Amino acid sequence: MAARTQSFICQNCGAAFARWAGKCEACGEWNTLVEESADGPRGPGGPRRPPRKGRPFAIEPLKGATHEAPRLASGISEFDRVTGGGLVRGSVLLLGGDPGIGKSTLLLEVAAAFARGRHRAIYISGEEAVAQVRLRAERLNLAEATVEVAAETSVEDILATVSQGIIPRLLVIDSIQTMWTQTVESAPGTVTQVRGSAAELIRFAKRSGAAVILVGHVTKDGQIAGPRVVEHMVDAVLSFEGEGSQQFRILRAIKNRFGPTDEIGVFEMTGAGLREVANPSALFLSERDLGSPGTAVFAGVEGTRPLLVEIQALVAPTTLGTPRRAVVGWDPNRLSMVLAVLEAHCGVRLSGHDVYLNVAGGLRIQEPAADVAAAAALVSSLTHAPLPAHAVYFGEISLSGAVRPVPQSAARLREAQKLGFTRAIAPEAARNEAPDGFAISALAGLDNLVADIAREGTPALRRVGRQEA
Ligand code: TYD
Ligand code: MG
Repeated sequence: MAARTQSFICQNCGAAFARWAGKCEACGEWNTLVEESADGPRGPGGPRRPPRKGRPFAIEPLKGATHEAPRLASGISEFDRVTGGGLVRGSVLLLGGDPGIGKSTLLLEVAAAFARGRHRAIYISGEEAVAQVRLRAERLNLAEATVEVAAETSVEDILATVSQGIIPRLLVIDSIQTMWTQTVESAPGTVTQVRGSAAELIRFAKRSGAAVILVGHVTKDGQIAGPRVVEHMVDAVLSFEGEGSQQFRILRAIKNRFGPTDEIGVFEMTGAGLREVANPSALFLSERDLGSPGTAVFAGVEGTRPLLVEIQALVAPTTLGTPRRAVVGWDPNRLSMVLAVLEAHCGVRLSGHDVYLNVAGGLRIQEPAADVAAAAALVSSLTHAPLPAHAVYFGEISLSGAVRPVPQSAARLREAQKLGFTRAIAPEAARNEAPDGFAISALAGLDNLVADIAREGTPALRRVGRQEA
């Protein structure tokens, strides 16, 4: 009998090593190497399958008719928008997100929506008992939905069961980390098992035409394999995000072989499940704190959808040797860049100040167009000058301090006008795209912006001195 080869696999990135080490050399994570057998023959001591000869298969022309609708929309429009118009037959989608963010809730609702459209939808939970899934369904007012439910973790058993009768249109696996397959030997939850189970389920999807959704928990510690190893195997990766304490949830496409990747869907977690938010700008601005220094409204775009969000900054004198820079919802590197440009080109001294920047509502912004809004919020906070109440901000800042044009200005301005704003502080190029009755204060450089805001405000240090006197 051939000796089994053991190897150590990083549970974070999937890299294999011959020897154990405290740190994975591939991804730099600590304590993530776990011993797994590399050749995965079935069962302990079981016989190896003899090598099989290749068997010829039919090759088809690319040109050919697809008879059935390749896509099926769920009817939950925020979900359909992110998937690119619905689930594609035979496709596999990975839904990632922190534990407790609402993945199971969302997928139960999606499964119920399919069932309502008279499609067979099966929800397999590897984490909860059927009774728990039923309780959730009751809470979501879905107790009457014709979704089929089971609590099961063996991939072979699941596939044997769902292959009986009508092929399901949707199969939800919650979660991929709890699944295990006999084709590999490692313990459930390890990278090898996650990858092996995913491979079996993907094969089922391609063969049967069922759409499969895999849930993947994102965990930072190496105990449970990150779903990252599955990302390249599936057709689409969606991430469900949000601050645990906030009720907003954002569904974002990270990868999609059949649709756009920059669309977002917005939901609100309520006592009775997820509610779709058709007009997210109103939501993100609903509690806006106009008239207080350090708050700027950013006219952003996510995919094709304009979105107004509030950017809040707090600039306060520091007591530390190295001042703090903390960001929630934006790229810390871009904040550093904006701070550097403010110092270098606009004479704004921030090296003696702690800087906090927050995007309201738990949203994460990725656009460089937010630079101008962030800068406005920072300068406003530093000088204690509130920004004009009916103005929105957008524009990209270059390292030279110039304000550069950004795409989709017209959509940003229209959204701002719709929500009652009357003016935009924006790059010169936006002037041509303004709707009637909407004013543009064109910015050539960041120094213009700083001068405009500072004129209204009090230099921070003088104000602090006065308060002490
Ligand atoms: P869940 O879908 O179980 O999260 P995940 O599968 O991503 O781990 O959702 C868990 C959270 O959602 C839990 O903290 C309670 C909350 N929740 C509601 O607020 N309203 C609801 O109707 C439901 C079902 C859950
Ligand atoms: Mg869950």
